Amino acid sequence: MLAEVLEKAPSSDYDPYEDEALLAPWEGYRTLQDAGPAVWLTRHEMFALTRYDSVKNALQDWEAFPSSLGVMMNEEMNQVLRGNTLCSDGDAHDRLRRVVARPLTPSALKSLQEEVDREAKAVVDRICSQGRFCAVADLATHLPVTIVSRAVGLPEKGRERMLDWSYGMFNCFGPANDRMRTSLPVLSEMMDYARNHAVIGNLKPGSWAEALHEAAARGEVPPEVVPVMMIDYFGPSLDTTIFGTANAVWLFAKNPDQWDLVREDPSLIPSAINEALRMEAPIQDFGRYVARDYDMDGIRLPEGSRVIVFYGAANRDPRRFADPDRFDIRRNATGHMAFGAGPHMCVGMNLARLEMRALFNQLARRVKRFHVEVEERALHNILRGFKRLVVSVE
Ligand code: HEM
Repeated sequence: MLAEVLEKAPSSDYDPYEDEALLAPWEGYRTLQDAGPAVWLTRHEMFALTRYDSVKNALQDWEAFPSSLGVMMNEEMNQVLRGNTLCSDGDAHDRLRRVVARPLTPSALKSLQEEVDREAKAVVDRICSQGRFCAVADLATHLPVTIVSRAVGLPEKGRERMLDWSYGMFNCFGPANDRMRTSLPVLSEMMDYARNHAVIGNLKPGSWAEALHEAAARGEVPPEVVPVMMIDYFGPSLDTTIFGTANAVWLFAKNPDQWDLVREDPSLIPSAINEALRMEAPIQDFGRYVARDYDMDGIRLPEGSRVIVFYGAANRDPRRFADPDRFDIRRNATGHMAFGAGPHMCVGMNLARLEMRALFNQLARRVKRFHVEVEERALHNILRGFKRLVVSVE
């Protein structure tokens, strides 16, 4: 049956997870987009969805493309990480998401605004007085690691591991390659921490993590899912924003005319951030299970197969965005897929935007030009960004 279906589907031997493809994915994405609305990847035995419409259709139809059977590209992880907000559907998902979202609504985030602005100013003052700095370690990491990790409320011991956990966890979302396997022990450490150390008594009073335990005590969520729900906070709240911020610095360094526009009119910052996220989506792809036979614009996806949903490719689909490889902060990039779409659309996006806006507001006041001196990309299964990005500023 599968063989018969696959005979009719476009297929490709291209491997989006090879080093070269990870470093420069755009041409490969374009080839897959041109090959069809869904393309069978022979190396991974999954369908690649790279066109904007295909990605959107899959993300919006949770009944046909559920998340509760895992959103990772390997079965081991799909078994390990179950039952959190990311990996649940329907009513169960709504229940968890309501609780996880509480501190992340625009009104709840107002309480963080002042601190975020203050810290953004402090970090930008510091790097500007240095003149030369790493946009990842010295700039982008500061807000997530200070403010966000404090708000999550983990005990002091363990917090310093959050960055490694976040990076390792996302590598485990990829196919079962070396990058995924070497990250598995980091993930086990994170799961152990969530189960055995991030417990009431160890958590900061009033923190987001403590609020999850309290919600369970009130019967709003089952107590056994609290540890995996905690991963909804400490998995995606750090590297995503760190990578997104450094990617934006890199884009502005490469496109000084666009930075001039921001400096002239800082009210463009929100749309500039959207455009940076569109161009260089920090999360390039997640997966979905196919729960019933599905017709994706004429390509039959059989029940029981899996799809890889490439947000990063959708964002560069010329069918949706004119001249998609051009960084143009004045375009309307609001429909981009960097935060996903549908019921699982990023619940932390207001926070990510808050942090990025605060930093770029400060940078627009102080920096005339960014010059890239050293760039080293992170070779990562899922995340796109830099390990090191040394820039000097005028
Ligand atoms: C630039 C920064 C960020 C990017 C690019 C990003 C990207 C994404 C994407 C693409 C999804 C959709 C997953 C899917 O389709 O299955 C998602 C979901 C999620 N994100 Fe973010 N994220 C960012 C920041 C954050 C932050 C700061 C937090 C937490 C404080 C967060 C927490 C979550 C959670 C809990 C989900 C799952 C939501 C659900 O399943 O209903 N994210 N994010």
